[in-house]
Amino acid sequence: MTSRCKTAVLISGSGTNLQAFIDAVSRGNLGLELSVVLSNKPEAYGLVRAEEAGIPTVCLQHGHYADRASFDTAVAEKLDEWRPDLLVLAGFMRILSPGFVAHYSGRILNIHPALLPAYPGLDTHQRVLDAGDEWHGSTVHFVTEELDGGPRILQGRLSVVAGESADQLASRVQAIEHQIYPQAAGWVGEGRVEFRLGQTWIDGALAEEPVVQTFDRDGTLI
Ligand code: GRF
Repeated sequence: MTSRCKTAVLISGSGTNLQAFIDAVSRGNLGLELSVVLSNKPEAYGLVRAEEAGIPTVCLQHGHYADRASFDTAVAEKLDEWRPDLLVLAGFMRILSPGFVAHYSGRILNIHPALLPAYPGLDTHQRVLDAGDEWHGSTVHFVTEELDGGPRILQGRLSVVAGESADQLASRVQAIEHQIYPQAAGWVGEGRVEFRLGQTWIDGALAEEPVVQTFDRDGTLI
């Protein structure tokens, strides 16, 4: 039996990306094992998704800790009970302390709803509309100390439709996220993608640019 990559998923909210991982793992085409789901918010619906899928859940509320570092230490101590190979941030609305990032160096993934390096931070969909951009999308990247700045792995992009609202654009981008995030994490899990010397390596070669997948208006890979 091949050993699967033990994966911890960190959430703060609805967990639609978590659901995409649960679905992909249950289809059996991803070399990941979802070991634990951790939330910093007790009301996060993703906790329900995890329980329904039979995945252990943990809730640690950041407000119960004196500062960022002590919360992050508690999160790491808890997660390490499962000895995770990989951490997947899926809407985890916390800035991670340098010590936490170093503890899991090269083993933390995030998805950000923009074509990084464009639009780090919040409100990405509205900012894309305001700028009149032709393309938008989402980026899976390794997490480093730089917020939304770690080396990129995979981007899914779509063309912005004239007249669409930020909410419509957000939901089209999310549909893409549900395809690209499990896929990219699967590549990491099977060792095809690595974090080395602070950069992304794909199939043994330095990848200065991410893999880019283009999707049509309905979210189908072109
Ligand atoms: C996603 O849109 C992701 O890009 C961002 O947070 C959102 C999480 O959504 N990092 P969900 O909780 O997975 O539905």
